[in-house]
Amino acid sequence: MSPSPSSRAVRFAVVGNPGNRRVTMFADAVLAAGLPAPRIVAWRDVLRGAYGFTPGELVRVDSPGEDPEVDRALRGGGDPTRVEGSALWYRRFTDAVQQVARAAAEVGATLLDDPQDIAVLFDKRRCHARLLAAGVHVPPALTGPVHGWDDLREQLRAARMPRAFVKPAHGSSAAGVVALEFGGPGRLRATTSVERTADGRLFNSLRVRRYEDEREVAALVDTLAGDGLHVERWLPKAAQHGRAADLRVVVVGGRATHAVVRTSRSPMTNLHLGGSRGDLAAARAATEAAGLGWEALTGISEQAAACFPGTLCVGVDVLPGTGWRRFAVGEVNAFGDLLPRLTGLPGSGAEEQDTYAAQVTAVLRRERHRATSAA
Ligand SMILES: Nc1ncnc2c1ncn2[C@@H]1O[C@H](COP(=O)(O)OP(=O)(O)O)[C@@H](O)[C@H]1O
Ligand SMILES: [Mg+2]
Repeated sequence: MSPSPSSRAVRFAVVGNPGNRRVTMFADAVLAAGLPAPRIVAWRDVLRGAYGFTPGELVRVDSPGEDPEVDRALRGGGDPTRVEGSALWYRRFTDAVQQVARAAAEVGATLLDDPQDIAVLFDKRRCHARLLAAGVHVPPALTGPVHGWDDLREQLRAARMPRAFVKPAHGSSAAGVVALEFGGPGRLRATTSVERTADGRLFNSLRVRRYEDEREVAALVDTLAGDGLHVERWLPKAAQHGRAADLRVVVVGGRATHAVVRTSRSPMTNLHLGGSRGDLAAARAATEAAGLGWEALTGISEQAAACFPGTLCVGVDVLPGTGWRRFAVGEVNAFGDLLPRLTGLPGSGAEEQDTYAAQVTAVLRRERHRATSAA
């Protein structure tokens, strides 16, 4: 693509971790559009108060993850796989994003992600509440704070919610997520990738396991509750080849452009926990056979993304109900998955593009629009 006269003036900066694949892929997409390479502003430097934004720069904020030094600074040290500390991480991370916004505003650079949106997207309770208020179909959730196991058990009983997803409010990548089900009297099962050591410490592992002893589950939940919990009804998900399925839909500039199906033998479909790519065409056929229409999927994803109008690109986790008869939004992610080489949905306008190229195109479209409406 050759740059149009107005796009020649576009300069990007990315706040991210140098060498991170998401950052590299975005930089490649910028170069492929004939634009100068984006300036990479390292999270390490941001945390020391060094930004160096220049007037007119368009600043994309990317994940601070996957850099041990940055991770230690945000989480306050300790083992990187430990589950506790997400509330502190959230406070420091959202503070840092505010500082980025302030530094950008001072010199007249523009953020492509709204700091207020980011603060909501990284709090599953606030994200859920915002979606619900906008009429997006989400799983019913407990509304009050959860103080620990006894409190949770009582609240679930009162809400008639025998199967629930218990999620750390500030978690991602299924860290600390527990799928909980009460069977008959005294019967209980918790499915999670959290490993509890003999001395009671919690670590995220790559293996999904089950706990059925109430004392063990209680200890797990009591510890998790310290960082804040979001609890919602466990929706029975549609399946492909006997594996539970959900969809990750990427919405760029308000438009659902890319989608993948993720399937797993466990209730969590996250790829690092043994989830794998499912069959999107089969999901579409099943949805249409159920009489729902594929627009239901793009529609609910765009409706969810519209709750975050200041954010260029979001990844929406869509939960298909049993039989592909209804969709609900499980969560909205600010930074999205790495989806290399995935091209866009038919009719999305991004048929030939990966998610990064689609973002660059959306920004250029917007800049052209600004230029013409200012002229
Ligand atoms: N209410 C729910 N009912 C059924 N499955 C759910 C529900 N919430 C989340 N899941 C599943 O759990 C996994 C992780 O949940 P998610 O909210 O996306 O957290 P994370 O930010 O850790 O990825 C996803 O694979 C999703 O399909
Ligand atoms: Mg998710």
